[in-house]
Amino acid sequence: MATIQLFDGNSLSRQDQIQAERAWDIDRDIPWQNLIDESKGLLPLDADALVFPGASAEQRLVISQYLGLVINSTISEMEGVIHHLKHHAWETWLDEFPVNPEMRQLGETFFAEEQKHSLAFDRYNEKFVSQLHLPPEVLSRLMPKAFGSFFLKAIDLNARAGGAAFWWVVSAVEEVSIEIYRQMHQHEAKLEPLFFCVHRKHLEDEARHRNYAFLMLELGAKRPAGFIRRALWQTDLLWAQAWTTSWVIAELARVFEVRKIKSQHEWIRTLQSTVPLMRKLGPVEILKRFVVNSPYVSHVLNPHHHRHTVKLAQKQRVLRFPWPQPAPFPTGVT
Ligand SMILES: [Fe+2]
Ligand SMILES: [Fe+2]
Repeated sequence: MATIQLFDGNSLSRQDQIQAERAWDIDRDIPWQNLIDESKGLLPLDADALVFPGASAEQRLVISQYLGLVINSTISEMEGVIHHLKHHAWETWLDEFPVNPEMRQLGETFFAEEQKHSLAFDRYNEKFVSQLHLPPEVLSRLMPKAFGSFFLKAIDLNARAGGAAFWWVVSAVEEVSIEIYRQMHQHEAKLEPLFFCVHRKHLEDEARHRNYAFLMLELGAKRPAGFIRRALWQTDLLWAQAWTTSWVIAELARVFEVRKIKSQHEWIRTLQSTVPLMRKLGPVEILKRFVVNSPYVSHVLNPHHHRHTVKLAQKQRVLRFPWPQPAPFPTGVT
């Protein structure tokens, strides 16, 4: 991870300059004019297509596309709602413990980049639905929503009380999005090109700014702490993990909503036909796979995948759940 230090204004400023110079433009640098290749999947899958064992080639293609839209939407929701927390989780920290103006400037760039990412992922999903002439319920009913959720309310309350759960969530999301790209990278030629391009562009920004959440967590540890804040500090990561897990699982369960969509569209009918495949595993095995084996989902849920976050948690001696070691199934494109 970056060697940039919290109190080193020069290197913070240099990083900001690099981010500004290399930033991509959402309209100019992504070829939105290109048609989406509907014959290609969005994400490589494991042999059981996460929790759909026995899926046919046609079903696997739709599952891969559905899952790609869910991943886009998850990142977009998480990176899109963070500006709602900007005041309590960021500005008040910097006002209370002024580090240097460079840290503030770098933060402004960070928040702006996340907003851009959120728009890019949403734009891809909207293009996919419109090009395939899918019913709008694909976005309104099947995709995760953070705004108005218990997850966002809890993180917001924690931030208002001076807690750091927000930055633990952000640090984990930064690591996950880089890991998701790594899964895609080796199968580039077989994946949908525009989807790949959006994730590639995302990776470029993430690789440059991923240290920001960690710098904020270091700042958090240095803030003057009263009794309540000290107690929160110890448990913030636990809460961040609990709220993220419950939100992700609840949002994944939206796939069952597909049964209520009244459409004869082939894509919808194929996705509907996959739902019974989950019954072969049962709820306990599905949960186990989500935490231990499933690509993407276990990357989000299992903190063992968030190496730098865990390292910092150990250094700061904050509490963590004893999660089982992950063993993700290998992925490929057939
Ligand atoms: Fe991002
Ligand atoms: Fe990021």
